[in-house]
Amino acid sequence: MDTQTIPTPSLMLDVNRVKRNAERVSDIANRNGVRLRPHIKTHKCIEVARIQTSGHDGAITVSTLAEARAFSKHGFSDITYAVPIERGKFAEAIEIQNGGVKLNLLTDDADTAKQLDEAAGKAGVRFDVFVKIDCGTHRVGVEPHTAEAVAIPRQISDAANLHFAGILTHAGHSYNVHSKEEILAVARHERDSMVELAERLLGQSIDVPTVSIGSTPTISGVDHLDGIDEIRPGNYIFFDAFQATLGSCGFEDTALTVLAAVVHRNPTRRRIVVDAGAIAISKDRGPVGIDPACGYGHVLDLEGNETGMRVTSLSQEHGEIEAGEMFERFAVGDRVRILANHSCLTAAQHSHYNVIENNEIVDRWEIHGGW
Ligand SMILES: Cc1ncc(COP(=O)(O)O)c(C=O)c1O
Repeated sequence: MDTQTIPTPSLMLDVNRVKRNAERVSDIANRNGVRLRPHIKTHKCIEVARIQTSGHDGAITVSTLAEARAFSKHGFSDITYAVPIERGKFAEAIEIQNGGVKLNLLTDDADTAKQLDEAAGKAGVRFDVFVKIDCGTHRVGVEPHTAEAVAIPRQISDAANLHFAGILTHAGHSYNVHSKEEILAVARHERDSMVELAERLLGQSIDVPTVSIGSTPTISGVDHLDGIDEIRPGNYIFFDAFQATLGSCGFEDTALTVLAAVVHRNPTRRRIVVDAGAIAISKDRGPVGIDPACGYGHVLDLEGNETGMRVTSLSQEHGEIEAGEMFERFAVGDRVRILANHSCLTAAQHSHYNVIENNEIVDRWEIHGGW
């Protein structure tokens, strides 16, 4: 099947761009002397993870225990589950750990740390546990200057069945900036607040084996990583319209698009509608702070060239495009490729990638979704 006949909507993954993006961040890690533990939630795909970890130790970050299970079956044995653990997931985490995987967990909650220690003791397992730190996103994590930022690491260090793995943060607020200068400021703060906390913990005789940071915008823009042990960027492997607009990459680096077919054209409104709606593209609003007209994705032609059009409105299965001067170029049944705002959310809604090389479909790679 080719791009004219394959069912739509479906994902097109440019493998050469994936390899280039992997090398770029691999070089950043090597240049800065830090370990790379990529977040695989962006793609949830074994083949992509193998490209990304090539030349590194194979460690990965996951966002679901389903990802941990799927990847552990394919030889990935050092996995950080980077969402705070809660007691409803202890049994599954223990099962994965007993399957021969080193499953690292994280928490920002003293009660949960106590319960986890007890559950691990009963099961006869020992978990490596990070304390999640809030470096400014204010989503989860303890703030670095608080008493808990020392008390919880101490509690974990003293626990019989837990090993204090270190401190871990994610600068999610780097997605809300308006300029490269702001990204650099967030990146420096992410790094410096973690290095300062590690020093504070060491000053209290708490050993900090790993200081772990990383988001795609901050790792792409940071000036150095002194004092950091590990980085966990994820989105960089595909990038997307959001990252290209933020300046983390160029549009020519974006690896993932949604192949869609025109299902309707309206000559009065000079508008076309494609069969890729919110559940094929995702409804991430993208970089509206920088580009208020970004819409829900860039419309590319079948060769991946910009048409200048944007997806302006989405419902579940319909993507509406104000075609303007381009309107006459499209008939019902014609195909386009959509470069979505946020590739992680787009990929998570599909079952597989159609792998392309020079715009030809050469392979099919599965996506391991679910929870
Ligand atoms: C805990 C954690 N680490 C790392 C990442 C990777 O960030 P990015 O996709 O910006 O590279 C994320 C993304 O949400 C995350 O939540």
